[in-house]
Amino acid sequence: MLTWLDQRTGIVSATKDFLTEDVPGGASYWYAFGSATMFAMILQIATGIFLTFYYAPSTATAWESTKFIIEKVPAGHFVLSLHYWGASAMIALMAMHLLQVLLWGAYKKPRELQWIVGVLLFVVTLVLGLTGYLLPWDLNALLASTVAIRIAGNAPILGPAVLKFLQDGDGITTLTINRFFGIHVWLMPAALVALVAAHLSIFRHNGPAGPPIDEAPKLKAGRFWPEQLFMDTVLSFAIFVIIIALSTFSPVPLDDKADPNNSTFVPYPAWYFIALYALVDLVGGLPPAMVQAASLFATIIGPTLLIVLLVALPFIDRNPSRRLTRRPWVLGLTALTMVGAIGLSWIGQNNVVTGQLQHNLIGPNAIAATTATGQSGPIGTTAGVGGTTSGSTSAGTGAAPAAAGAGAAVYSQSCAGCHGATGMGVPGAFPPLAHNPVVTGDPKKVIDIVNNGLTGPVTVNGATYNGQMPAWKGNLTPKQIADVITYIRNAWGNKATAVTVSEVGGAR
Ligand code: HEC
Repeated sequence: MLTWLDQRTGIVSATKDFLTEDVPGGASYWYAFGSATMFAMILQIATGIFLTFYYAPSTATAWESTKFIIEKVPAGHFVLSLHYWGASAMIALMAMHLLQVLLWGAYKKPRELQWIVGVLLFVVTLVLGLTGYLLPWDLNALLASTVAIRIAGNAPILGPAVLKFLQDGDGITTLTINRFFGIHVWLMPAALVALVAAHLSIFRHNGPAGPPIDEAPKLKAGRFWPEQLFMDTVLSFAIFVIIIALSTFSPVPLDDKADPNNSTFVPYPAWYFIALYALVDLVGGLPPAMVQAASLFATIIGPTLLIVLLVALPFIDRNPSRRLTRRPWVLGLTALTMVGAIGLSWIGQNNVVTGQLQHNLIGPNAIAATTATGQSGPIGTTAGVGGTTSGSTSAGTGAAPAAAGAGAAVYSQSCAGCHGATGMGVPGAFPPLAHNPVVTGDPKKVIDIVNNGLTGPVTVNGATYNGQMPAWKGNLTPKQIADVITYIRNAWGNKATAVTVSEVGGAR
């Protein structure tokens, strides 16, 4: 029977070749991270397919169907949690695998292509993590993804096109959810499977690299079967047990449904992006003139350079020796990058925690009530989207507190999406309104800008912005415009006179 099959497919001898392959220097748990990553990937595909049976991507159904999976589908919450923790496991294991190959010098000739495909796999997996984050369509999904989309939109040259592709429209809507869904369940998984196939077939061609030494390993060569396969299975199984335990004892949470008007929620990014988040935060504290360039570097140029550097590594580091002692540069830089990433993640984690504490102290309900009814009340704002600042201010202490309270509601609905909950704007895209002399200057000019919109470059505190500010006349009532202008002129440390409805109505 096996012979029959083998004569027609070659599958039996191929498996035999594969299983009896030498593992130079003997089997090792160090080599098990690659196969454990693949195990996590298979788990993601299996659980992901299950989730698509119930999930419906649109603003009206994404959150509802996620809630349905959690509350109504048998084992739904467990499978969703497996998918959630599995994503983290896959990224952590892949990072370990990459690190091991890097330290062992296994990317060197003749394994350059295998390494490059591996780096691409890493990028694809991060994109999967990023696009999956939006799908539950809860507050956190929306706000964390808003940050990601804005960062992508800030990229030089390609930014606007990427923004248009990812977001497709003026705001984050059903089109955006569908775009992310398509990328998450079709495009990236297809790329992932194709790249894994390439990665493995190149691996079959070159064989394992073995320990980081230059001479032939002294130890008797081990076999893939049974030693290495046993270790691979042990690691994968251990990971599976951990994922099951996390999914049981710490199932994935679902926040309130996404609400673009809620600009008081502090988003928490996935842990593998938290270093980037901290970097954006740090950069936001630089002198205004430097913020624009520095944030571009932190969010786009730096990460791109890192990926380019990884891809080019086998061609830059042409020293054929794989001995650890002969490769101080690569090892030193790797250690430095790791220390930097861990340090930044720690800072980012602290920022999120303090941001959320502030949020809880101010009381989300007070804010929600104010936003919903437009009544005046204690307005608190916490860390802006993008985390450029944290801090809370109580607005409307100056002129016309009632109008400022109503203005805060208008602001969070109509303006915060671009100018940020704390008026800090988004470096490179939307000008800050806090500490902006135009905002606190001649009220006629501010009324004109808000009524009729603005295009062409503007310079605020040394940084230039060139975008399109929508016209609000007709979309907002003169009273709402008066309220919101009074609000922005007196929030976040600004101090200026209130404007009246008749001033707004009388203007062009
Ligand atoms: C779609 C994004 C977006 C929204 C929403 C938005 N703005 Fe703007 N705003 C901009 C951009 C972009 C500019 C800069 C325009 C330019 O470069 O010419 C701007 C500029 C301004 C300025 C002038 C700043 C300066 O220094 O010259 C004011 C004031 C302002 N906006 C207030 C508001 C108010 C009030 C709201 C809500 C009613 C609002 N904006 C909503 C994008 C937006």
